[in-house]
Amino acid sequence: MTKRKLPEKKDHIIEIIDLHKSFEDNYVLRGVNLKIRRGEIMTLIGGSGTGKTVILRSIIGLIRPDQGKVIFNGGDITHYTEEQFIEVRKEIGMLFQGGALFDSLNVLDNVCYPLREHTPLSEDEIRKRGITILEEVGLNGKEGLFPADLSGGMKRRVGIARSIILEPEMILFDEPTTGLDPYNTRNISELIVELNKTRGITSLIVTHDMETALKITDRLAMLYEGRIAMIGTREEIMSSQDTLVKSFISGEALAH
Ligand SMILES: Nc1ncnc2c1ncn2[C@@H]1O[C@H](COP(=O)(O)OP(=O)(O)OP(=O)(O)O)[C@@H](O)[C@H]1O
Ligand SMILES: [Mg+2]
Repeated sequence: MTKRKLPEKKDHIIEIIDLHKSFEDNYVLRGVNLKIRRGEIMTLIGGSGTGKTVILRSIIGLIRPDQGKVIFNGGDITHYTEEQFIEVRKEIGMLFQGGALFDSLNVLDNVCYPLREHTPLSEDEIRKRGITILEEVGLNGKEGLFPADLSGGMKRRVGIARSIILEPEMILFDEPTTGLDPYNTRNISELIVELNKTRGITSLIVTHDMETALKITDRLAMLYEGRIAMIGTREEIMSSQDTLVKSFISGEALAH
């Protein structure tokens, strides 16, 4: 029997192929290969300064790799122009490390910012959508507060609301729970899972937090010495006898 031809639509939303990046003599990415399946929650872990943020920024064109490819929905976006990447960033939202909220804007205006920048919607419609998204992330009634008035967990929620307001297919979460207490860590993790379930958003999470990673993700990838050293399901990672994987689980390989 001949093999049936698969439909055009790729089951991988993102394919990173042999990605290299140096900053002067700092050779950070040394051939990263990573495929992210549509609809999954994937976690990328690795020690501080190993290039996790560089990988996320490379996906949406904020850093240009020296070599290799980034494929999005089957198309090569590696050499897209800045204008083309603006379109990509509507489909791939990012929660930046530390939140990156605008201190001078209130919660609602922070969340509505991408709508004002990228859509021709009326002011009424923009506010309506902003309020709806704030409800979805559990921040109803907080529209008028400023970032300085918010707890760490609330700031993270505002950042997440802003990253989903353009209804992206995928979100890159850079350290979404770092610096939060256990209660807020759990809340933010649950929110990420909920967005994945209700909206079908594919998520790539960068974290140092092995406990959260093992709790909420479908698969984990481990960045070590500029490459993905291991990728697998939670179960595969947990039962691995590989010494490097074991040192990741124990936290040794993640130490600063
Ligand atoms: N724009 C840049 N210019 C120069 N060096 C950079 C730039 N961005 C990242 N680097 C360097 O690349 C390396 C990897 O940085 P990156 O921010 O990706 O680390 P990380 O794995 O995200 O670490 P952390 O867990 O601390 O956030 C670091 O040595 C960093 O100094
Ligand atoms: Mg980082």
